[in-house]
Amino acid sequence: MNAPSNMLEQIQSDALESLAAASDESVIQEIQTHFLGRKGVLTHFLRNISDLPKEVRPEAGKSANVLKKKLETAFHNALSDIQTAKQDQEPGIDITLPGRPVSCGAFHPLTLMNQEICDVFKQLGFEIVEGPEVELDYYNFEALNIPKDHPARDMQDTFYISDNVVLRTHTSPLQIRTMEKRKPPVRIIAPGKVYRCDSDITHTPMFQQIEGLLVDKNIHFGHLKGILTTFVHHIFDEQTLLRFRPSFFPFTEPSAEVDIQCVMCRGDGCRVCSQTGWLEILGAGMVHPAVFENVHYDTDQYTGFAFGMGIERIAMLKYGIDDLRKFYDNDIRFLNQF
Ligand code: DAH
Repeated sequence: MNAPSNMLEQIQSDALESLAAASDESVIQEIQTHFLGRKGVLTHFLRNISDLPKEVRPEAGKSANVLKKKLETAFHNALSDIQTAKQDQEPGIDITLPGRPVSCGAFHPLTLMNQEICDVFKQLGFEIVEGPEVELDYYNFEALNIPKDHPARDMQDTFYISDNVVLRTHTSPLQIRTMEKRKPPVRIIAPGKVYRCDSDITHTPMFQQIEGLLVDKNIHFGHLKGILTTFVHHIFDEQTLLRFRPSFFPFTEPSAEVDIQCVMCRGDGCRVCSQTGWLEILGAGMVHPAVFENVHYDTDQYTGFAFGMGIERIAMLKYGIDDLRKFYDNDIRFLNQF
């Protein structure tokens, strides 16, 4: 019989040679079982040590255990090398890549414009009020001194729900709704959606307005000019000139349309202002006595002014946007710029 040390050397070289030749996980496992398994070659050797002559037993036992450890380590390393190689090949997770940012929502440019305008008026002591978008004909027209069959109704292409119910064509009904509820003095602005049967590059069937109303004793046109000038200087800049042009609205007398100096050409005349140097931004005037009578305000004691503007229009002028519909296209590339 071979000396035990020779047998162990043989086992070692057989095991390491077959391991070196193996490149596949299952083959390595088979070799491991062949040498170290319950019926493996080395296990068998260890189990039969008691058959060896007494003097060689301790040395043989010790060497066999050392070899066992060595082979266990070799198999373990071979298997984990294969695991690592496999992971490197697998596509998908590369933990060194930068993460994908979570995109964050933001306010719509018209919401921002609305907030900015409201902020200016809030600083001037105005309170924000709101009202229904589906409105009674009475509030939208009648009480604002626009009787049925009045030609002024043709100025606004109204969506009728029924004979007496409309989608509000402006936020002016909030003048009436507020004054019905409160005694003067009144100082409100009313932002909100309005509807007109109209659609082209400067009109959408739904758009947004801000109505303003101030009523108190001794209010005159100079106050209106002062408030609107302050407003324009906040939204545009301090150098922007204003011009009040005589106009007609049934609910104000006198009425005016307010222009600002063209923000593009500074008044020289360009395509945006149709060479006039001016841009129309809102309608305004002194509250018509007929309107006060409808809400039972004493016209001998109180006077007031009102104004109304389109939020989209102000935003277009402020940001130089030529197509109103862009605000409602939901194109993130456009919206992201604000
Ligand atoms: N309501 C008018 C419109 O939608 C705008 C307007 C003009 C409102 C003059 C006013 C005003 O309060 O005095 O065209």
